[in-house]
Amino acid sequence: MAEKNQNQYHPPESNGYHRNDQESLHAMEDDEAKRKKRMKWTIGIIAFVIFQVVQALFFVLVIMKFKSPKFRVGDFAVQTLTVGTQASPSFNMSFVAPVRVKNTNWGPFKYDASTINFTYGGVLVGEAVIPKGKANFKSTKKIDVNVALISTGLPSNINLNLGSELSSSVITLNSQGELKGKITVMFMFKKTKISQMNCTMTINTSTKVVQSLTCK
Ligand SMILES: *[C@@H]1O[C@H](CO)[C@@H](O)[C@H](O)[C@H]1NC(C)=O
Ligand SMILES: *[C@@H]1O[C@H](CO)[C@@H](O)[C@H](O)[C@H]1NC(C)=O
Ligand SMILES: *[C@@H]1O[C@H](CO)[C@@H](O)[C@H](O)[C@H]1NC(C)=O
Ligand SMILES: *[C@@H]1O[C@H](CO)[C@@H](O)[C@H](O)[C@H]1NC(C)=O
Repeated sequence: MAEKNQNQYHPPESNGYHRNDQESLHAMEDDEAKRKKRMKWTIGIIAFVIFQVVQALFFVLVIMKFKSPKFRVGDFAVQTLTVGTQASPSFNMSFVAPVRVKNTNWGPFKYDASTINFTYGGVLVGEAVIPKGKANFKSTKKIDVNVALISTGLPSNINLNLGSELSSSVITLNSQGELKGKITVMFMFKKTKISQMNCTMTINTSTKVVQSLTCK
């Protein structure tokens, strides 16, 4: 009998089941919402990781790429010039050399004092002193230096060559130099770099200007 009585209470129980169905529907909706939320988080984390990797690659491939700054002499006009003859060749000249240090790095280049050698036919005819200094990041440092060149004591074969150059109103000079310094990126990553200068310039003795200039 008790069993039967229990069976008679089925309707309320089925009502209870109905309520449970609604609850499980809510639960399913909750699960779906949770799943979506998890998905959003996962996508967010993946995007963040990709962003970090791209940033790291950019940092390593662009920012941390230390390049030797360019060290060269620009065009100039000769201020004073006296030349000898083809038979007795010589020159004595002075000018302001526009020296340029082009730094393409993402950090400043601090260099030590240095000397530029001016040569004629491989023989030293004068020097220019470069004081120690700094080329800022992504910029060109301009240094104007006074230079006086004189052709005393050239070996006879080079003297002969100077004679023939003077007869066609040109003097071909060479400038060599080395700038040693440190590049600092992000205030802490440092690297020592050496910039080489090797420029060849042709001066027209009638116009007193640099007619051609090539730097390596
Ligand atoms: C070279 O030229 C400068 C300026 O014109 C002059 O003062 C100097 O005496 C000259 N030097 C020689 C050795 O002729
Ligand atoms: C410049 O000349 C000096 C003396 O001749 C030499 O010691 C130095 O190495 C030269 N510098 C360059 C960059 O050629
Ligand atoms: C400089 O360049 C010239 C050619 O323009 C070359 O003959 C010479 O060897 C170079 N010198 C240095 C020190 O690199
Ligand atoms: C020097 O410059 C003058 C004027 O520009 C020109 O006529 C002459 O040909 C030049 N000399 C040489 C050797 O190129």
